[in-house]
Amino acid sequence: MKDPARFVDEAIAQLRREVAGTAIVAASGGIDSTAAAVLAERALGERARAIFVDTGLLREGEVDTVSDLFRAAGLRFEVVPAADRFLSALDGVADPEEKRRRIGTAFIRLFEAEAARFGTDRLIQGTIAPDWIESGGSLRDTIKTHHNVGGVPADSKLRLVEPLRDLYKDEVRAVAKFLGIPSPDRQPFPGPGLAVRVAGPVTAERLRRARVANAIVEEEVQRAVREGTIPPPWQYFAVLLPVRTVGVLGDNRVHGEAVSVRVVESVDAMTATAAGLPRPVLGRISERITRALHGEVVRVLYDITDKPPATIEWE
Ligand code: XMP
Repeated sequence: MKDPARFVDEAIAQLRREVAGTAIVAASGGIDSTAAAVLAERALGERARAIFVDTGLLREGEVDTVSDLFRAAGLRFEVVPAADRFLSALDGVADPEEKRRRIGTAFIRLFEAEAARFGTDRLIQGTIAPDWIESGGSLRDTIKTHHNVGGVPADSKLRLVEPLRDLYKDEVRAVAKFLGIPSPDRQPFPGPGLAVRVAGPVTAERLRRARVANAIVEEEVQRAVREGTIPPPWQYFAVLLPVRTVGVLGDNRVHGEAVSVRVVESVDAMTATAAGLPRPVLGRISERITRALHGEVVRVLYDITDKPPATIEWE
């Protein structure tokens, strides 16, 4: 990439060419779509409106964190509550690609309605290069359908505008930093949210377990970083696995679920290395997850696989 200042000038000019009237921005609170939303704000001012969807697949406290971030970044935005809609779209679905397609479609239908309300057909997205490269094209197999690419139905009238589509993650971070977006090194979080961290069927109960476990991993890793025990990892999270496993609570046998903890180092998400965690940090994570989810999660595993062959997310 050329330097961020030049990229930003050109992206703003390009957005003004592509959007004559108004546009909505699909804003998830992640670094990519926040950068796209700030570019849209700079290019279009009040003609752009960021839409943050509360899918019910978000992390603990995420609606508040993201709202604070958007306020700090000076965005005009709306929070659209849609948890029931997403949960029913996922009802009975265990296949990872089908999950991504259903979530993508639910997002697009919702954005179509929001666009109509705002009097536009333009949807600005924070799609970056790995999203469409990994979503397949003529030259590559589909690794994963990234929700912001795979879910656009052929009959949609929305016209996509993607100012970051040629950038890689490290380049987006440089742009975000240049744009003054607060904490541009926030870890990545997938568009389909906790749905891809609940391996297998997604239910409200299983989502709650994944959310609790994920929050504990985030808290303990961040605590270790604050205490100077480890440098900040690139990405760290928990995944609820689609297996039942036997545990023991007091004198009783229980048949509970299992959680995998994943911590990776990466530069551009195309490859990644499984990172180690000090034994006491691992011990606290395991102890806290099994205590908070008493009898529901009875086993905690640590994922030691690099990408490739594994991907970063489990699904
Ligand atoms: P994978 O699992 O493919 O993930 O190795 C690479 C990086 O992308 C994130 N990820 C997504 N981001 N939409 C996104 O915006 C998605 O559908 C999606 N799936 C995975 C993942 O967290 C990792 O940082």
